[in-house]
Amino acid sequence: MAKPDYLQCTTCGKQQPYEPFVPALCKHCASQWLEAHYDYEAFKREVLRRLPSRPSNMWRYQDVLPLNDPSALDLYPAGGTPLWLSQRFAPGLGHDHVYIKDERYGPTSSFKDRQAAVAVAAMNENNIRESVIASTGNAAVAYAAACARAGIKLWVFMTSLVPQEKLREAALFGAEVIRVSGNYDQTKQIAAQFAQRRNLHLDRGASSVPARESMKTIAYEIVEQLGWRAPDWYIQSVSGGLGPLGVYQGFKEMHQMGLINKIPKLAIIQVEGCSPMVRAFKAGRDVAEPVIPDTRIIILSTGDPGKSYTYLWNIIQAHGGTMESVTDAEAFAAMRALAKSEGMAVEPATSVAFAGLEKMLKEKKISSDETVVVNCTGHTFPVEKHVLGDQWAVDVHLSTDQTPAPREGLQAALENLDEKTTSVLLIDDNADDALLIRRLLGSRKNYRMHHAKDGWEGLAMAR
Ligand SMILES: Cc1ncc(COP(=O)(O)O)c(C=O)c1O
Ligand SMILES: [Zn+2]
Repeated sequence: MAKPDYLQCTTCGKQQPYEPFVPALCKHCASQWLEAHYDYEAFKREVLRRLPSRPSNMWRYQDVLPLNDPSALDLYPAGGTPLWLSQRFAPGLGHDHVYIKDERYGPTSSFKDRQAAVAVAAMNENNIRESVIASTGNAAVAYAAACARAGIKLWVFMTSLVPQEKLREAALFGAEVIRVSGNYDQTKQIAAQFAQRRNLHLDRGASSVPARESMKTIAYEIVEQLGWRAPDWYIQSVSGGLGPLGVYQGFKEMHQMGLINKIPKLAIIQVEGCSPMVRAFKAGRDVAEPVIPDTRIIILSTGDPGKSYTYLWNIIQAHGGTMESVTDAEAFAAMRALAKSEGMAVEPATSVAFAGLEKMLKEKKISSDETVVVNCTGHTFPVEKHVLGDQWAVDVHLSTDQTPAPREGLQAALENLDEKTTSVLLIDDNADDALLIRRLLGSRKNYRMHHAKDGWEGLAMAR
């Protein structure tokens, strides 16, 4: 049984029972920030026994995920992604302890697969057969895949600015895709209205307990992969902030259990054209003003982060960290540099984190003995064109006097018959086709025609 023992309000400290899919709201002070609490003593004993016979994916940590009985569910195998030591990208910038948490190894290549896995398992457990999600792209694809496997009908709302390939990928998994010609914040509202009108379950992103809790597994994996050691920094590109909020929760739990001796500093990296969090952070404010996104990196286009910013602000005040922005161009440059130095193709949303790392290293915000982990996600397509420009290949044009490559097919064969040809041996096992070809040839010239039904017969006739 891994169901949270209770939810605790981070504002007034009061406790209340966990109810799945009821928006987490403190019944005493109306705060929306409630933390799930589990039987940590039991889980710590398991950890100290080295988690025997656990799966090597995120369900390894199912004791601290909000499900009643995970063993009764078909658990979607997300997580369990590798952690690589950067071999050339970070050393090229003078740092030897940068690790890359490679979330490209998830079922749809993004860290949102974890969110989809827990949310869909919770839907299954609560007999929810139809759901609605608004997404900047990757969450939609991840949910679409996980819902397909669970046989849950999914309505996906995305802005029409999301790369069409991502929209199509969600559709391929059988989701109903609704393209909204507005920005992401408007799209979220439309999705919420749709879910309300039809009385359907709506995924609430950062304020959904299953969604947020799923991200803890990134922290648990990192710490286990580092030999039960916490890194000094955790760096992630941020849109709505769900990722680092959930990851922080994992570090916090491990710290409270005494499994690690510190909580890493968070580095929140946003793209300059949509950086409401960074603006507020630099101005020393704990509330972010919404912005209208202006970036090609649509995946990171949450213009109004709402309360998530304030929670991240509080975490950074308590444990250290920073918020930085990088331009689209800096992100695309980092994407190329990472591909060339590590052999890793990542998507622009991830390259924002690497550009942020580069900036922080250049500005000496990270000292050379600190261990850094960067969340890395996603596939490159379909934005290579923005990254590579026009000069990405050398074209070789053959001059017209060169012999063209031989073409195949009937038309090509007919064209290759020269003037001197008078006899044609036609080898075809289909009488109708043979008749058609005879007619075609007959319309060109009065050839002497021979027809064989197979290669052996044809060879014999030719001899
Ligand atoms: C690759 C990638 N990085 C970062 C983010 C930001 O996510 P969030 O701010 O919700 O953690 C997303 C969101 O979809 C993403 O797909
Ligand atoms: Zn409260």
